[in-house]
Amino acid sequence: MSPAPRRRWPVVLAVALVLPVLLLVTGGAFVGFQYATAITDTAGEVDFERPLAIPPLADSTVDGTGRRVFDLDVRPGTTDFGMGGPAETWGVNGSYLGPTLRASRDESVRVDVRNGLDVTTTMHWHGMHLPAEMDGGPHQPIAPGSTWSPEWTVDQPAATLWYHPHLLGETAEHIWRGVAGMMILDDPAVRHPDGTGLPQRYGVDDVPVIVQDRSFSSDGDFSTRGSLLSSTGRLGDTVLVNGTVGPYLDVTTSAVRLRLLNASNARVYDFGFDDDRTFTMVGSDGGLLPAPVELRRVRVSPGERAEVVVALTPGEDTVLRSYPPGLGRGGDTDRFSGGADTLDVLQLRAADTLRPSLLLPEVLAPAPDLLESEATGQRSFALGGNSINGESMRHSHDEMDHSRIDEVVTLGETEVWSVHNTGDAPHSFHVHDVQFQVLDVDGDDPGPLLSGWKDTVFVERGSTIRFLVRFSDYADPDTPYMFHCHVLLHEDEGMMGQFVVVDPDDG
Ligand code: C2O
Ligand code: CU
Ligand code: CU
Repeated sequence: MSPAPRRRWPVVLAVALVLPVLLLVTGGAFVGFQYATAITDTAGEVDFERPLAIPPLADSTVDGTGRRVFDLDVRPGTTDFGMGGPAETWGVNGSYLGPTLRASRDESVRVDVRNGLDVTTTMHWHGMHLPAEMDGGPHQPIAPGSTWSPEWTVDQPAATLWYHPHLLGETAEHIWRGVAGMMILDDPAVRHPDGTGLPQRYGVDDVPVIVQDRSFSSDGDFSTRGSLLSSTGRLGDTVLVNGTVGPYLDVTTSAVRLRLLNASNARVYDFGFDDDRTFTMVGSDGGLLPAPVELRRVRVSPGERAEVVVALTPGEDTVLRSYPPGLGRGGDTDRFSGGADTLDVLQLRAADTLRPSLLLPEVLAPAPDLLESEATGQRSFALGGNSINGESMRHSHDEMDHSRIDEVVTLGETEVWSVHNTGDAPHSFHVHDVQFQVLDVDGDDPGPLLSGWKDTVFVERGSTIRFLVRFSDYADPDTPYMFHCHVLLHEDEGMMGQFVVVDPDDG
């Protein structure tokens, strides 16, 4: 009829030609914009205006059998971080984060964890040596309104551990909302020579430093802005310490011990100070290092802890800063995963007169003493494509199969585990129940920073880490423990596996 359809051809053609170009250009502009804005640098930009919140020590009662009992109440709330209004948050016994649990070696503890959320959660004791049923992984869900009461006896060195939810596919969201806290273990039997010792007055010269990054929208709520091209998930441009934005700490002693805990979803920090001063590392995940190590930087990946002691002179200020951490070789995309970021974290303000602190002991703790010659087994774990040895737990979850067991280990045996990052993202490898002893990193001596017990270790792209590990005390063929990447997006995407510990003497 009308020639109109034919006349539309040039239009269609033009669109067909122009559209891809347009998409390319806008896509390119988008990537270009992301590229240009991918680096966050807050050095010198943070106004340290708020006193650092110190999580309260959790109250406990001692029951008739001498067991120490804690109460944790997980609940939703709102928290005003001072970013323009209240944020919707979750917390433990409060609206954001939770109290610090504190217990001593040989003590029996029970924790009554009540879930006041309207979704199922769990509570995991990261770094704790305990029976699998008490571990708080995905196998011990806590339904809304119910209470879970794990109990165990603390039997490991003094250390900085932490607790957080561990629900399949939901861990990132629950921690990001604010459910996490520190757990400090003491060992009263450890004595240092007279006149030496570590700072140990909680909140005064022995301070929890729970580091998290968040972005905020203009109304003050958390936002996921800027995480689009990150291979590791949610990164923020604002650092919170113990839930405080722009925190300062008034220091009244000549040395202060900071228990650094990376409770961030994805971000790796390389801690140092703005004036590049040295400080002393005294502890890692599983307890004190064999000896103090003087250094200028310590890199802490998600899930890891580092205890450092910082010396101050009267009247001075210094800022704890995270320098670009570098995430491994060939890191073209590192800038999207925070590898090029600099972030100011916490200002230390020394009083005009400082109480003198004790000298640090020259020997802190026995060195890890597993022997490679005694290892009876060896296992390899290839980390890549958000799976471990090609297996993803997420699949299992979708198929409602929690029961896949990847590894069966024998009670009391020592093994060599070799963890290889074969992919193009950085990973943080964590094993439940145990503390392990790093043997080598790419065949080299692991150095003093990895000289203590570890439960989580950063595995750069292309790198291989070998460690010795022993599975002692608790066997249960029916309840698995997990091993997984502690980058929470990866964990939730299924980068996990399960192992059971079996006792050959059990029928
Ligand atoms: Cu901190 Cu399996 O976790
Ligand atoms: Cu854990
Ligand atoms: Cu990972």
